[in-house]
Amino acid sequence: MTKIRSVRGMNDWHQQDASLIIDIAQLAERLFSQAGFEKVILPVIESTHLFARAVGEATDIVEKEMYSFTDRNDELLSLRPEGTAGLVRALIEKNWRQSGEIKRFQYFGPMFRRERPQKGRYRQFHQFGAETFGDTNPYIDAELIALSYRWFTELQLIDNIQLHINSIGKQNERENYRKALIDYLTPLSNQLDLDSLRRLKTNPLRILDSKSETTQALLEQAPKLSNFLGEDSQSHFTQVQKFLQQLNIPYQINVNLVRGLDYYNDTVFEWATELLGAQGTVCGGGRYDQLSTQLGGRDCPACGFAAGIERIIQLYKHIHPNTLPTADIYIISEQNLAPHALDIAQQLRQSLPLIIQSDVQFASFKSQFKRADKSGANYAIILATNEWAENKLILKPLRKHQPQQTLTINSIIKLLSKQNN
Ligand code: HAM
Repeated sequence: MTKIRSVRGMNDWHQQDASLIIDIAQLAERLFSQAGFEKVILPVIESTHLFARAVGEATDIVEKEMYSFTDRNDELLSLRPEGTAGLVRALIEKNWRQSGEIKRFQYFGPMFRRERPQKGRYRQFHQFGAETFGDTNPYIDAELIALSYRWFTELQLIDNIQLHINSIGKQNERENYRKALIDYLTPLSNQLDLDSLRRLKTNPLRILDSKSETTQALLEQAPKLSNFLGEDSQSHFTQVQKFLQQLNIPYQINVNLVRGLDYYNDTVFEWATELLGAQGTVCGGGRYDQLSTQLGGRDCPACGFAAGIERIIQLYKHIHPNTLPTADIYIISEQNLAPHALDIAQQLRQSLPLIIQSDVQFASFKSQFKRADKSGANYAIILATNEWAENKLILKPLRKHQPQQTLTINSIIKLLSKQNN
């Protein structure tokens, strides 16, 4: 019989990867809860029209990456490719914000895009997102960036990622720029790469982040979006930068940063690393002041971002290759003492905030030590007949050259809790 396989681009994460996904999202959840971001859990399936209207008909996501299907009642539905559109839909529908109020939300969950799978690019992936509604104040843009900065700092990734920011101005400013860009590129269209040629008709601003070197060379002489920004847009961008400087958050202005979704205005930003090759953007976001009205709601300025958890994990593992233990303490026992090993493990788990794993095969000490070593645990606790007769256990450091000690369980708990404080 042929084996049934997982769907291409959809992963089965387990062990360290699965715990990293949960732990990294939980850390974000804690940091953003401290800043007043309320939790939301939203549907994975929404009306296809929502994404067409919010993300944009002419974006790659809507044009070719959505998993869409017709439901039995002929409704056109899609698996969500991102979280912002659904949140704004819910905000309007459920009246989660009274006028004049500032509201902050956070979410975590799977997103779906039918992209060509490669390392760091999947068809099901997880995003943690944070969104703020209710004001155009650049303080909000800076607050979101500052919180993501703190998250990446706590994960010790900050030295390996860079913050890129840009302003794409207001809609009319972008419209004028769009015309100027088309006028400039049309006579050169025979030199453009195929994707950019197609975008010249559908979404010319996206040509700016083309990966083709020839296209990038053509763009050097092209009109610059920054020259089309009005006073308001310029002052907003300057203020965001001032906040970042005051917070000591390093950034680079990237004039070609336009983002792949249509709802943005003014500030856009991305956190990217050079360590993951082509899929180096770990987080992206920006302002989207018109989206609420575009979706039939009240005027409601907004700003937010989403981070790709799988990419963060890849970066994390790249930077901390040896710091992913599956246990802190590994219990080793002689065969006849195995039932006591279970009890010792339970006592330790009740008293210490550590991962305690017990061997289950209890074969030779040699093979138990091998497994203890592989688990990454800092200590082995050994149940051996002579010591056990005196109610004692052996505590053996596995990573440091320190002597082993023979101690009662209570002394071990005392010693390890001191180390843990
Ligand atoms: P996005 O740039 O499309 O923005 O996605 C955000 C992040 O999700 C990316 O930076 C990347 O880390 C991750 N990501 C995207 N596609 C994939 C994929 N195929 N495989 C793995 N990771 C992926 C948004 O989704 C916006 N909703 C962000 C936002 C929130 N803007 C305002 N509020």
